[in-house]
Formats: sequence, C-alpha cells, structure tokens
Amino acid sequence: MEPWVVLLLFSLASPVIGDYEPTWESLDSRPLPEWYDKFKIGIFLHWGVFSVPSYGSEWFWNHWKDNSTGKEAAFINRNYKPGFTYQEFAPMFTAEFFDPNKWAELFQKSGAKYVVLTSKHHEGFTMFPSKRSYSWNSMEIGPHRDIVGELSKAVKDKGLVFGVYHSLYEWYNPIYLSDKSTNFTSRNYAETKLWPDLKQLVNDYEPSVIWSDGDWEAYDTYWKSTEFIAWLYNESPIKDHVVVNDRWGIGTYCHHGDFYNCQDRFNPGKLQDHKWENAFTLDRLSWGYRRNVDLQEVMTMEDVLREIITTVSCGVENFKRNGSNTVTRQG
Ligand SMILES: *[C@@H]1O[C@H](CO)[C@@H](O)[C@H](O)[C@H]1NC(C)=O
Ligand SMILES: *[C@@H]1O[C@H](CO)[C@@H](O)[C@H](O)[C@H]1NC(C)=O
Ligand SMILES: *[C@@H]1O[C@H](CO)[C@@H](O)[C@H](O)[C@H]1NC(C)=O
Repeated sequence: MEPWVVLLLFSLASPVIGDYEPTWESLDSRPLPEWYDKFKIGIFLHWGVFSVPSYGSEWFWNHWKDNSTGKEAAFINRNYKPGFTYQEFAPMFTAEFFDPNKWAELFQKSGAKYVVLTSKHHEGFTMFPSKRSYSWNSMEIGPHRDIVGELSKAVKDKGLVFGVYHSLYEWYNPIYLSDKSTNFTSRNYAETKLWPDLKQLVNDYEPSVIWSDGDWEAYDTYWKSTEFIAWLYNESPIKDHVVVNDRWGIGTYCHHGDFYNCQDRFNPGKLQDHKWENAFTLDRLSWGYRRNVDLQEVMTMEDVLREIITTVSCGVENFKRNGSNTVTRQG
C-alpha cells in the first residue's frame, strides 16, 4: 500500500474519537464500548482492612467512630484492649489465602465476564502501592502484596475484563477533612491525592471499569470529575474500552456516565433509556464479608437468578446510540 493511503485512512479515522470536552454534555455523547453491552454479568469484590474485623459491614470503622453505643463499638470493647485503633487491624490483613489465578479461574467458570475490585474503599487503605498513601496500602503493611496488580493480571490472563472500584472520599484523611472544612473551596486532597492516585491506577493497571463511589459530600467541580473523565476518554491508555459509572459528585448519579448505578441494588423492573447496572450483594446486608452474617440473609440460588434475569431483561442495547457504537466508529 502507498504511504499516502495509510495517512488518508488515519486522518479519516482519528478525529472521531478523543475529542471530548470536560462537560457532561460532551462526555455523555460518547458511544458505549461494545464489550459492556455484551458482557452482562460481573463480579464485585469488597476487600480491605474492614475484612479483618468483618463485623457489621465494610462501614465498620465509621460506625464504630461515629456511634459509641453501637454494636461496632461494643464489638471492639469486647474483643480488643483499651485504646485499640483501627489502624492496628492492618497488620492482621494478611491475605494469606489470596490465590489470584485460582480466583480468576473460578470467576471464569462462573460465567461472569468482568471483575471489579475495591482498589480503595472509604477507609482510604489502598490495595495497590499508592505513592501517596503512606503506610496505609497493601504493599507496605498487611499482605505486602499489590492486590490490584496481581488480581488484574490473573483476571486478564483468563480473558475476563478487569475493573476497579475507587472511593473519591476518605472518611478520615486529614487533607480531605481540611478541604471539607472550607466547604470544598480548597482542593488540596483532590489535587494531591485523588487525581494522582486515579492516574496511577489507570496507567499501571489499565482497568476497563472505573466504578466511582464516595462522591456525595461534594460537587463534581470539587472532584474535577469531568476533567478526569475527559482525560480518560481522550488521552488515557484505556480510552477505547473504559466505562465509568455515575457517582461523580452531588447530583450526578442516575444522570451521567457510561452506565448508571443509581442507588445500590437498583432494579427498576422495566426498560431504561440508558445503560445501567444493578450492583447487588449476595449477603443482603453487607458488601464486605462479615463474620456475623446469618444464612437467612444470604441470597439463595433462585434469588440470584431472579435478580440477574430481571436485570438483564431490562437492559438497553447500545442505548440511544444506535448505529454509532465504538466498533462502527473505529471501523
Ligand atoms: C447507634 O447504635 C445503636 C445500637 O445499634 C442504634 O440504635 C443507634 O441508632 C445508633 N445511632 C446512630 C447515630 O447511628
Ligand atoms: C458550600 O458551597 C456550595 C456550592 O459549592 C453552596 O451551595 C453552599 O451554600 C455552601 N455552603 C456554605 C455553608 O457556605
Ligand atoms: C436506528 O438506526 C436505524 C438506521 O440508521 C434507524 O432507521 C432507526 O430509526 C434508529 N432507531 C433509533 C431508535 O434511533
């Protein structure tokens, strides 16, 4: 082929993708990557330091600190020495049975097509060696392993898609709390912690899902969500296949993003006009493992099937972007 032909093809193909403005209007016009339409079932893993006390839910630390008469505080008083801190759970988080290849094999056999792991929940502990989470990440303390990296590799090796859950806020991060005390007019946490961590996650692990959460205390202007997503869609190494959910600041959920989660366990029972996902839990009362779970609180096989069927049957193929999904546009 003559060189000019190649150049011509390139110039015809290139302007379409990678031109999003940091506004919801522009970002929401992006065609949904085709894989997300097709894959239907994913597995969501909530894992972190909260899995050590494994009591109540993954909100353990917050419930303990905010409620001295609650069951979490009673659990601590019953089982740990006076003055015990949440941070002392971290060395007990050993992840000794974490066998990423075995896990990925199990996920594959289950028929699920994508896997999303909590890279950081509201406790702020990162399951990867964040360069900005000093002594509060899975490489420096606890497992001494890069959990996100290992699982990402194992899952991708099995031909499944890997994604990360990531909490925008951190309950007790002093830099975040300082921004909050200015009613989010200062943005130190967003600039020095959140953005660089998100970019590290994207660049190092190339996840195909960014499942954002913990957004509700501030507007998207504080988080700079639209700037981040424009970077994801335009420039990042995952621009052609990444999908994001809808939790990007006060008022965004159920309105913006590649797919909507709306509330937890959203299952509207009728066709929606936008791609959506029903994020539900097998233990009806907790996302993380909890030792005090009662068998009655866990979904039966029939419950799980009912949830999946009622969800998938109300999905929307390619939403309104009929005829302009990514495959056509790239072709
Ligand atoms: C604290 O915990 C108790 C016992 O579980 C509960 O009745 C109460 O509503 C909680 N208070 C708050 C503020 O959550
Ligand atoms: C905080 O900021 C928001 C907008 O960013 C504003 O609507 C609200 O009134 C502010 N609250 C206070 C207490 O100043
Ligand atoms: C889908 O695309 C076809 C062909 O381009 C068009 O005729 C049809 O009206 C479109 N449907 C919707 C719902 O946009």
